[in-house]
Amino acid sequence: MFSLTFSTARAWSGRGLQSRQFQRFSSRFNSADFAFAFDIDGVLLRGSKAFDEAKKALQFLENNKVPWILLTNGGGKTEAKRVSDLSSSLGLDISTSQFIQSHTPFRRLADTYTKILVVGGDGDTCRSVAESYGFADCAMSIDVIAADPHTWPFHRYTPDALANLARPLSASKFDAVLVFNDPRDWGCEVQVVTDVLTSRDGVLGTKTDDLVQTMPIYFSNNDLLWANEHKFARFGQGAFRSSLEKVFEDYTARKLRSVIIGKPFIFTYEYAHKVLDEFRASRYGYAGHVKRVYMVGDNPASDIRGGNDYGWHSILVRTGVYKDGDVIPQGSVPKAIVENVYEAVMHAVENEAASRH
Ligand code: G3P
Ligand code: MG
Repeated sequence: MFSLTFSTARAWSGRGLQSRQFQRFSSRFNSADFAFAFDIDGVLLRGSKAFDEAKKALQFLENNKVPWILLTNGGGKTEAKRVSDLSSSLGLDISTSQFIQSHTPFRRLADTYTKILVVGGDGDTCRSVAESYGFADCAMSIDVIAADPHTWPFHRYTPDALANLARPLSASKFDAVLVFNDPRDWGCEVQVVTDVLTSRDGVLGTKTDDLVQTMPIYFSNNDLLWANEHKFARFGQGAFRSSLEKVFEDYTARKLRSVIIGKPFIFTYEYAHKVLDEFRASRYGYAGHVKRVYMVGDNPASDIRGGNDYGWHSILVRTGVYKDGDVIPQGSVPKAIVENVYEAVMHAVENEAASRH
């Protein structure tokens, strides 16, 4: 069993980690006792740029064999592609077995639904993701527009995209709508999604009597806001859902019935805990359930609320959505607020040391 000791820490101090960071830690503690779940946007990256503190923090954990996973409400690419991009940005090899993105759990629906409307992402990338999960018949709004441009006359699809990305719609009935990522043209998606949801028996081009919703819609995350390179947090998939819900209710006089996964919902954390236990066993041979998980996030409403509800030790960083002075609702108050992800790791290491005495 590998232990993080003072000498190990001192060895690191020469490589940019300040030895003062470890003056406080005179005890040994067991790297098998704890693990981390890191949010991505606003914690490890801002947009495509990785924080230096993120590289330092992850490398420290790698060198001390402390397990960690990535738990993001982001998505829009296959897990393999996103992990390859993250490995390049963060300068270390990340495995898909330590990576959970917003729509990863959608895999479990591939045996339930045959024909789905896939919503969101660039071009038809999310169609490839859905097919990689095993969904047999994946339609997108670009297919609907190519079949009938009058569906949404203001669509922004280029002739090239319509010629090269659109596919002929099958004659099958739609079974469900799955929102994989943030749509790029909200107006078009609101129109097409509503047409599908109120189609009779899932047959596009028909309407149910008094516009009853005839199938489920799943959202892969609930984020009203997220942090990219912009100075202020940006609207996320949760904002799209709010827009769709309002239009749907005004049009049908009924509330949209939907299922939302992703952080902060307990389903996602149960899934993440299973992934974390499997990862730490396969990577380091650590058996059983990990004793303590530190959830490091930038968004109180998703990362911190979910970590708290699931009993993880939540740590909020100041490098993303949260800004000092923001009101944090009850239930989303973190165990600690720190400057950045490196400080979050140091806080956890200190907590581990203290828990041993
Ligand atoms: O679309 C991504 C955004 O909603 C939040 O991503 O990594 O901060 O959970 P993340
Ligand atoms: Mg975030």
